[in-house]
Amino acid sequence: MLNIISLGLSDEKDITVKGLELIKNSDFVYLENYTSILNCNVSVLEKFYNKKIILADRKMVEQEAEKTILANAKTKNVSFLVVGDALSATTHIDLLKRANDLGIKVNIVHNASILTAVAETGLQLYKFGKTTSIPFPEKNFQPETAYDAIKMNLKNDLHTLVLLDLRPNENKFMTINDAINLLMEIENKRKEKVFTEKTKIIGCARIGSKDSMIKYGAIYEMKKTDFGKPVHCLIVPAKLHFAEEEFVGQFKVK
Ligand SMILES: C[S@@+](CC[C@H](N)C(=O)[O-])C[C@H]1O[C@@H](n2cnc3c(N)ncnc32)[C@H](O)[C@@H]1O
Repeated sequence: MLNIISLGLSDEKDITVKGLELIKNSDFVYLENYTSILNCNVSVLEKFYNKKIILADRKMVEQEAEKTILANAKTKNVSFLVVGDALSATTHIDLLKRANDLGIKVNIVHNASILTAVAETGLQLYKFGKTTSIPFPEKNFQPETAYDAIKMNLKNDLHTLVLLDLRPNENKFMTINDAINLLMEIENKRKEKVFTEKTKIIGCARIGSKDSMIKYGAIYEMKKTDFGKPVHCLIVPAKLHFAEEEFVGQFKVK
């Protein structure tokens, strides 16, 4: 049996009762540790579940699952834990498919995702267009897909949720400020007027946690804002409905 268990966004207590019961009955517990992080340490999870946690990096999940996670799931109860919602903005459908192909029974336990938690900003979820992400730039890899997605969404009067790259094993997390700088670099090169220093955006950090932070303001104001610890994402809003404008107003940078 393979349980794919979503952990929610903040800490050890966001798990569902169903998810916790499955973990308690598991012989092996893996934590996928490369697509997002909780706002608490793995040791806190181990204590709360009273289970040893095996960290599963991208290589283990994408290339070695047949020898590790799935091999165990053929004869034992295995739980595979994912931060947020396991099947939202991640690629775990592939693991699900490979388990199905091997005839392993799979349980899926859903939970909160950043894709819906951004409703806390007051923006209406059904007014969002394509979600996009900004990867860390490399020497020969500076993609402009986020800029294009934002441009297309704005043209269709839709908000854009921008997810930011992270490499938890290197303790490297893209900040809202890094993302603004990367988007402005593309703007300065392409000059398509998707952004100016006065474009208003919404920055979101650690949504779902006690110390979450949401700020709404022009790019030049947001550049001066420190959003603190990871994880961060940002929203480029389209034209706001008056109810959205009123709600998001409480987050204005002062
Ligand atoms: C690849 S996505 C994984 C999303 C996860 N599966 C979910 O359902 O929430 C990870 C990115 O989403 C954003 N993110 C996830 N959780 C967040 C949170 N609590 N607050 C702000 N941004 C978050 C960050 O940009 C992070 O790098």
